[in-house]
Amino acid sequence: MAVSPKGLPLLIHLEMLLAALCLQSLEAEGAVPKQEVTESSLAVINHSIALLQRLESLLAQDNTSDVALRVQTAGSDRVRVFQAHVLLLSLQSDVLQDLLHSHSSGTLILEETPSCADVFDKFIRYLYCGEITVHLDQALPLHKLASKYHVWALRTGLSLYMTQHLAVDMPGGHVVGWYQYAVEAGDLALRDSCLQYLAWNLSSVIRSTEWTGLDEELLLTLLQRSDLVLHSELELFEALEVWMEHNRPDALTAESALRAIRYAMIPPLQLFRLQKHSAVLTRYGESVHDLLHMAYQFHSASPLQLAKYFSVNCSIFASRNYLSPAWGSPWVISNPARDDRTSSFQTQLGPSAHDASKRITWNALFSPRWLSGGPRSTLMEQGAMLGGHTDAVTAPSEGQPHITIAPATSSADLSAVSFQKTVIVFARQQGKEMVRQIYNFHQSTDEMSSFLADADLQQHTSEYLIDGSLYLHIVVKPLYHSLVVARK
Ligand SMILES: *[C@@H]1O[C@H](CO)[C@@H](O)[C@H](O)[C@H]1NC(C)=O
Ligand SMILES: *[C@@H]1O[C@H](CO)[C@@H](O)[C@H](O)[C@H]1NC(C)=O
Ligand SMILES: *[C@@H]1O[C@H](CO)[C@@H](O)[C@H](O)[C@H]1NC(C)=O
Ligand SMILES: *[C@@H]1O[C@H](CO)[C@@H](O)[C@H](O)[C@H]1NC(C)=O
Repeated sequence: MAVSPKGLPLLIHLEMLLAALCLQSLEAEGAVPKQEVTESSLAVINHSIALLQRLESLLAQDNTSDVALRVQTAGSDRVRVFQAHVLLLSLQSDVLQDLLHSHSSGTLILEETPSCADVFDKFIRYLYCGEITVHLDQALPLHKLASKYHVWALRTGLSLYMTQHLAVDMPGGHVVGWYQYAVEAGDLALRDSCLQYLAWNLSSVIRSTEWTGLDEELLLTLLQRSDLVLHSELELFEALEVWMEHNRPDALTAESALRAIRYAMIPPLQLFRLQKHSAVLTRYGESVHDLLHMAYQFHSASPLQLAKYFSVNCSIFASRNYLSPAWGSPWVISNPARDDRTSSFQTQLGPSAHDASKRITWNALFSPRWLSGGPRSTLMEQGAMLGGHTDAVTAPSEGQPHITIAPATSSADLSAVSFQKTVIVFARQQGKEMVRQIYNFHQSTDEMSSFLADADLQQHTSEYLIDGSLYLHIVVKPLYHSLVVARK
């Protein structure tokens, strides 16, 4: 290792510390043969906190330093110099180790962006003591530094921090910026978290200033998703119009975006009004002509008749997570851990205008402690048990949260269609309501085994509850093809 004479005292210093630590553990473990002595004579002498403090204080003592890090920014005179230690830097970062190895002078020059240079002191302190305090606007530059220097634990910690702070209010928003950065940096977990946040919280994103700042790639990525949570498809179309007026995309992008709208999910009267009044449709109407035509066909016949002529299982006939009353209902359950609850609501049979007047009544049952394979298997039995003796069942620790959503009556209309049920769970992050989790399931109750599996329903402060209540929104989506699998 290239060590300047100046660095020697430090190395000795560290080695002594490490040796002292080893000695302690030897004394604790090695000094006593296991069989002969009882547990009570074992002791741990633990000075790890003090060691950390000494390591941290090394940064401030520039007389022990063996390398200077000169952090500078292209196109700026600003320079920050940190007196550091080859051993510690090498221990934490293989990138710095390589740079230091191939470097003989006592100064290492690092080029950083202005925002990274601003947080370099925090970054280097983390290298010495493994601890860091992060503000929202520092997360991204710190993540950049952690990525650049391969400080993986810090990078993972920052990704997690960012994932947990997507909902925080920042003027102009930050999630879109984080998403774009995550794509460049190849942090797939962060990218997917940002994308999911935008998709699940689309209604509020659409109304924020962040919406028009979306780049084309992100817009198209979002438009493809079936798990968008928003009021209706019309809301999405109108948001797209706003985005297009603001961003003036080229014809190819405009067409791709417009073709991602699911016109069949918009009632024919509204569709007709759009065709007459939307400036965007007036301009690009030709390129979605076939889709509009199909949408009108979809509305005029039963989906089953249509299925004879073309595939109704493609995405243009799949509904997203619409919150409008035609597709489901909110359900707030106070004290969810207490006992079983039931609720009932109506949805429209399907999105087709052909079915617009047909309603289905659904019975929903929520049970905080459901025993699978137990005697209480059907909704009817459940309903009967709600009369009084549900609490005879189990101790609180047994059973799993469970939800059943079944039609109240059977009818000929129902036999032809199957339904995907989606349960959206809201939570509060950073004081704001947001979608916490989405569960999809079909008739089979087995697929719901994960429902609220990690959720704590007992504590008022649980991250799945809002003021002690479980905020659900149930969406029922007709599927016209039994082969369609639940997709994200
Ligand atoms: C030593 O103390 C620190 C801080 O109190 C603690 O985190 C660590 O687990 C302890 N180590 C052992 C071996 O007890
Ligand atoms: C370095 O400076 C500190 C005071 O800042 C002093 O306590 C320490 O003994 C010095 N170490 C060496 C090796 O000179
Ligand atoms: C639609 O159904 C056909 C079979 O009829 C199947 O081959 C195809 O993969 C399905 N498409 C989707 C998107 O599920
Ligand atoms: C997320 O969406 C919910 C409704 O879906 C909304 O109430 C909430 O304000 C949104 N959160 C943020 C942080 O925009």
